[in-house]
Amino acid sequence: MKILIFDHSEALAKQSAALVQACVAQKPNAVLGFATGSTPVETYQQLIKLHQAGQLDFSKVTTFNLDEYYGLPADNDQSYSYFMRVNLFDHINIPAGSTNLLSGIAPDPKAECERYDQLIESHGGIDLQIVGIGKNGHIAFNEPSDEFLMHSHLVNLTENTIQANSRFFESPDQVPTQALTMGSGQIFKARQILMLATGEGKAQAIHDTLHGPVTPRCPSSILQLHPDTVILLDRAAASMLD
Ligand code: GLP
Repeated sequence: MKILIFDHSEALAKQSAALVQACVAQKPNAVLGFATGSTPVETYQQLIKLHQAGQLDFSKVTTFNLDEYYGLPADNDQSYSYFMRVNLFDHINIPAGSTNLLSGIAPDPKAECERYDQLIESHGGIDLQIVGIGKNGHIAFNEPSDEFLMHSHLVNLTENTIQANSRFFESPDQVPTQALTMGSGQIFKARQILMLATGEGKAQAIHDTLHGPVTPRCPSSILQLHPDTVILLDRAAASMLD
């Protein structure tokens, strides 16, 4: 793993956007994996700037998002589908049919997950995947558990995650209790992974990701085994590293 530490989140975002730009420059029909949460928002702003400056063309790109709340339709303003439109897709030249997310209202979640995994495979897999990290070390919505799951699946969110994500909702009881998520194995198959983390609240999780044992109790620790992962941190998120 390559670790990059930045003084400001803006510098971090510029670097992560530059890595996405390099990927698309090398492969105009790249398959990009995107994440939600507050951390990647600045990176998306930088991608929009690069696009507006004529330096990044998304017309041939395909995207897959990591996860979606189960129970929320795409037009709900708390859905990750909505988040991606507002924060990125509405501002770049990606064709509407080239952005993919798990459906939060699929009646058969298992069939929806199989459809999604097959679609990723049919596009030749993900070239570059952006991931954030939860305070408990979750990636996408892969919560700490007894095993790394390969495929997309329905997951029960932990109390920790519901509390952490409740800041986006009016109250914790409005946070969906389940989500559909790519498996950690599916994320691991991406050819390049960019993990972004900012703030003191992520310092312990980043320490455990980099220096703890590789264990599904800390799902992000699987990245220790990945051949091309870049971890981009601000000083606060890096504060527990040696
Ligand atoms: C959610 C998402 C994760 C994200 C995490 C951290 O749980 N499913 O993909 O990494 O939030 O979000 P934030 O960047 O807001 O701390």
